[in-house]
Amino acid sequence: MQRQALVIGNWKMNGSQPLVASMAAALAAQPELLKQVTVVVCPPAVLLTSWCQATSALAVAAGVQDINEHADGAHTGEHSLQLVAEAGAEYVLVGHSERRQWYADSAARVAAKVQQVMAYTEQPVKLVLCVGESAEQRAQQQTMTVIEAQLSSALAALTSAQLSRLVIAYEPVWAIGTGLTAEPAQAQQVHAFIRNWLTNKWGVSGAAVQILYGGSVKADNATALFAEVDIDGGLIGGASLQVEEFLAICAAAQARSR
Ligand code: PGA
Repeated sequence: MQRQALVIGNWKMNGSQPLVASMAAALAAQPELLKQVTVVVCPPAVLLTSWCQATSALAVAAGVQDINEHADGAHTGEHSLQLVAEAGAEYVLVGHSERRQWYADSAARVAAKVQQVMAYTEQPVKLVLCVGESAEQRAQQQTMTVIEAQLSSALAALTSAQLSRLVIAYEPVWAIGTGLTAEPAQAQQVHAFIRNWLTNKWGVSGAAVQILYGGSVKADNATALFAEVDIDGGLIGGASLQVEEFLAICAAAQARSR
């Protein structure tokens, strides 16, 4: 099954107005690449409007790194799905391991955020559900059990019609920001497990879901990772802050679309 290659930059709590401008200018010079690869940048929410303005003439999308699990209300400092969607976000990361570890994103909160995205029908915002095991869980051979638990608690209530709005990012926690990357075959094994899980539950709509790999993806390891049959692209942290590096990763994903 042909799935469009997808590369998402996650700037985390980094970036700046000059980076918005230089990244947008570099992407504007790559019209062919943008036809073959869906490129998304998730800047910090305060840079979202600038990013949308800078890329308004380009086939590039905007995303955010998180949303609150409530639709509105007294939640100082938080952003609802509606607020970010109206500001131009077309993709929303949910369940990133940094949020699970340090900002109390329990399985229940992640599931509630998933429901916020899926319940919003004004615009077809896409959900990027992040899953991944820790080093300790991998050492204890619990990887697939952990991934399955994260998938089922977050996605149990989804209908097959909602799957067209779903992307999964497999990000082993031990590979995020550490310089350690999963070997392509090691990542593929987990991607195949996720693909089977989706297909068993939802059939062809499950098979069509894009599954991204994230965790220290760089220009020099992207090609090998994206050559794997179930790795449809990447969720890129540190390397998405360097224009040339990010473009080279997008170009590596382009090879998948040919
Ligand atoms: P990294 O981050 O590419 O810096 O490892 C990936 C992520 O956390 O999404």
